[in-house]
Amino acid sequence: MDEVYSDGVHEFRTGVTRIVCFLDQWCRSACYRHMQSPAKSETNRLADLTGDHYRTCLARLHSTLRPRSYLEIGTFHGDSLKLAKCPAIAVDPNFQLEHRVPTDAMPALCLFQMRSDEFFRSYNPRAILGRPIDFAFLDGMHLLECLLRDFIHTEKTCHGRSVVVLHDCVPLDLHMAGRAWNDMTRRALSVHPEWWTGDVWKIFAVFRRYRPDLTVEVFDAPPTGLVVIRGIDPSSQVLADHQKQIVELFGNSNGESALFEDFLSNLEINPTSRLAEVL
Ligand SMILES: C[S@@+](CC[C@H](N)C(=O)[O-])C[C@H]1O[C@@H](n2cnc3c(N)ncnc32)[C@H](O)[C@@H]1O
Repeated sequence: MDEVYSDGVHEFRTGVTRIVCFLDQWCRSACYRHMQSPAKSETNRLADLTGDHYRTCLARLHSTLRPRSYLEIGTFHGDSLKLAKCPAIAVDPNFQLEHRVPTDAMPALCLFQMRSDEFFRSYNPRAILGRPIDFAFLDGMHLLECLLRDFIHTEKTCHGRSVVVLHDCVPLDLHMAGRAWNDMTRRALSVHPEWWTGDVWKIFAVFRRYRPDLTVEVFDAPPTGLVVIRGIDPSSQVLADHQKQIVELFGNSNGESALFEDFLSNLEINPTSRLAEVL
């Protein structure tokens, strides 16, 4: 009886030891996974981004690139527009400019108070500024189909060495990333209920599938990331030719949760300190 009892105790102790070892290994590998990818959490959301603020990054891009022409879609108070120091075009259906236009630094500025679709239908930025666009910042309507159209139109006005930057493509959770900006019930579940990025984050899946030729780099610029696109090809028709298919596939809320998981698992975020390095 004693032997059976002591064997039982031995087996019990061995079992416990194995479980402890297993838990220890599991914890170590979980910690390791976390270190490999510090911004991603286990709960399908990202930790707050900790790099330089996106406008600090934009200022750095302006001084590094020294563009000779700038196009901005979505201007609002003018906080990003005022960073430009070259002839510029800004498009917004509802300008709320709060800054003196820095005409000393900016030799020409054309404001188009209209939606970007209307602007691109009626005007040619190349013709207005007399040269292709060197640097564009797309920060207008936060719906995938709108950003897609803005990118398609903008790319045509650029040249091969132009840089196109996108804003708000790194939502921290799915609640701020839905298509309806006024869905407060959903936003209330977010870590930042006052933020809305819309579903422009789906542009990564679109680029991956249709434009692998583009160089797309994501930076950890708060609040919701900055995306720098190079390898611009003004002659490319791929996105325009597949626009209808893309919008049917991605421009709705179907399967968003799985798409968001895919987005998180493919996301590689660079520190903003690397910004100048990649240019
Ligand atoms: C986030 S704000 C822009 C902020 C600004 N770029 C900055 O960094 O300070 C977005 C702006 O996009 C504008 N907008 C909304 N729909 C638009 C559209 N279809 N075309 C162009 N701009 C649009 C809004 O009026 C709003 O002023």
